[in-house]
Amino acid sequence: MQPDYWLERWQEGRIGFHRADPNPRLVEHHPRVLGPTIRVLVPLCGKSADLEWLVTQGHEVVGVELSELAAKAFFDERNLVADRVERGAFVEYRRGALSIFVGDFFAATPELTGHCDGVYDRAALIALPDELRARYAAHLPTLLAPKARALLVTLHYDALGGPPFDVSPDEVSRLFSGFTVTPLASEDARSEAPGPISRGATFVQENSYLLELR
Ligand SMILES: C[S@@+](CC[C@H](N)C(=O)[O-])C[C@H]1O[C@@H](n2cnc3c(N)ncnc32)[C@H](O)[C@@H]1O
Repeated sequence: MQPDYWLERWQEGRIGFHRADPNPRLVEHHPRVLGPTIRVLVPLCGKSADLEWLVTQGHEVVGVELSELAAKAFFDERNLVADRVERGAFVEYRRGALSIFVGDFFAATPELTGHCDGVYDRAALIALPDELRARYAAHLPTLLAPKARALLVTLHYDALGGPPFDVSPDEVSRLFSGFTVTPLASEDARSEAPGPISRGATFVQENSYLLELR
């Protein structure tokens, strides 16, 4: 999946993945998973309302997103003015405890993001095809502090194609072999996942995990 695919989706407003409200899984699992953390990385963050929610919980929040349109929209929609700073291959939009780095997640370094002790992944891993998911799981720990903790929310279903892509519990264990993986919850997500259903899925599970870097 090329960057242009996502840039075009943002230009054309094809952002059905976006939710106006904080994600219920984040609100539910935050105390256990991210409560003890300070600096939370949100890879492939879009213009997620979850960024704002995490700031209100007292975190430093670091988003990484390909589309500058998305980063600008996050602040514009809240009538907030952010500082815009060129940071090498990235552009940082910064206001208070939130920075959104516009650029390719796979080019992000800990010098840019700081070492984060928390990660929140909703619709990031599952946005990526097979080969990029392996790269994502390998790159993520390079941006993390020792003992970092992550809340990972995936979709698991029985159809081909994507995004969102199917990520099974087995794949989560395989990809994140450097982490202790604890399943937190599994919900029936058929009503919230029109894509997989239209591709023929007979079940769709939304699975939440706690990942702890070993
Ligand atoms: C399915 S959306 C999810 C956005 C957000 N996590 C949410 O819950 O609303 C995936 C996002 O990843 C971004 N993206 C895709 N590939 C990326 C990459 N290599 N680096 C940074 N962002 C990327 C896309 O522009 C898109 O906004």
